[in-house]
Amino acid sequence: MFELSETHDMLRSTCRALADKELAPKAAECDREHRYPKEQVQKLVELGLMGVAVPEEWGGTGLDNLAYAIAMEEISRGCASTGVIMSVNNSLYCDPVSKYATDAQKETWLKPFASGEKLGCFALSEPGNGSDAGAARTVAEDKGDHWLLNGTKSWITNGYEADAAIVFATTDRALKHKGISAFLVPMPTPGLSLGKKEDKLGIRASSTCNLIFEDCKLPKDSMLGEPGFGFKIAMGTLDGGRIGIASQALGIAQAALDAATGYALERQAFGAPIAKLQAIQFKLADMATRLEAARLLTWRAAMLKDQGGRYTKEAAMAKLAASETSTFVAHQAIQIFGGNGYVTEYPVERHYRDARITEIYEGTSEIQRLVIAGQVLKAYG
Ligand code: CAA
Repeated sequence: MFELSETHDMLRSTCRALADKELAPKAAECDREHRYPKEQVQKLVELGLMGVAVPEEWGGTGLDNLAYAIAMEEISRGCASTGVIMSVNNSLYCDPVSKYATDAQKETWLKPFASGEKLGCFALSEPGNGSDAGAARTVAEDKGDHWLLNGTKSWITNGYEADAAIVFATTDRALKHKGISAFLVPMPTPGLSLGKKEDKLGIRASSTCNLIFEDCKLPKDSMLGEPGFGFKIAMGTLDGGRIGIASQALGIAQAALDAATGYALERQAFGAPIAKLQAIQFKLADMATRLEAARLLTWRAAMLKDQGGRYTKEAAMAKLAASETSTFVAHQAIQIFGGNGYVTEYPVERHYRDARITEIYEGTSEIQRLVIAGQVLKAYG
């Protein structure tokens, strides 16, 4: 039996109560209206959930990554869009700034973001390269007293609301991934414009757009970490991000399982609740088993991150298992609901749409398999 510590257990109950009271009741409306869940995010800010694992001295809550995974799951169970907004700020923005920024940079670029006063985003993908992140074409030119950024970044979660972005750009394309550096960019700023808000299948309450840089001037001290170290910052950051998305996927799956179980106990067919039918019981058993297995993988990856070692393989396994479980569970939930699962009156069609992205962003399932296979082969090679 896996026992959570008192702190983790309390955090879980607190986030669960928040999700039930403040997030779940408004999730369908925000999804339908493509509306950023501003008041809901504010509730997260009040609980210190926008910088869960950032040290308190830098505006965060100073908990560990297991706490972050637990909180992310519960928040996403209530609203998957709110979940990804929280995940991007925690894992993709605050985590690398916390790790690589100088103390002077942290005052501006970390403190207000970890406290939730401001929101961050992460700009790695481009229109022509998503999985092949090392092929970045966005250019940062050294102009002596400033950097000049040109290019387009795509699929930027939080793009419309963010106050800053970590932007990966190359200073020398001939060096391939070794020419990429990371930059801290304020938003809005002259030379940066936002593309259209993407009209997505799911997580529709969170914004996604392109960031378009046209002669965008950045001060010389805008670089995060060492020159040419950007690709490694991006990869290391995504290891942590994958724990966040795995947790989001668990939350969506748990919401779908909860809904399907409740429905199976109530819905009558052939003279009894459908939960009495083995056909339904087998589905519930597979859904619950895969969910528990994915949760254990996710928590293990989070605990390894807390221990400070490399957890690339474990994070990829967690993301792969949890995201594929999420689509499986949401799919089965619709099957249990039958026709009622296919209409917006019930929540499972939204869970199904929300689950799908977890197999795509922060590395597709195919990329997770490549990462896992690479590590497995290395261990034997
Ligand atoms: N941690 C630290 N370093 C790492 C690393 C990791 N996890 N993975 C790779 N590296 C290092 C390697 O050691 C290597 O270092 P050297 O140059 O010193 O040898 C270097 O990075 C290059 O590694 P690879 O040769 O393995 O790189 P590659 O070009 O073959 O790419 C990849 C590997 C796994 C395919 C990688 O490109 C990848 O993960 N792609 C997917 C990108 C992704 O997840 N994008 C999502 C964007 S974020 C998002 O979704 C938006 C949002 O807002 C939610």
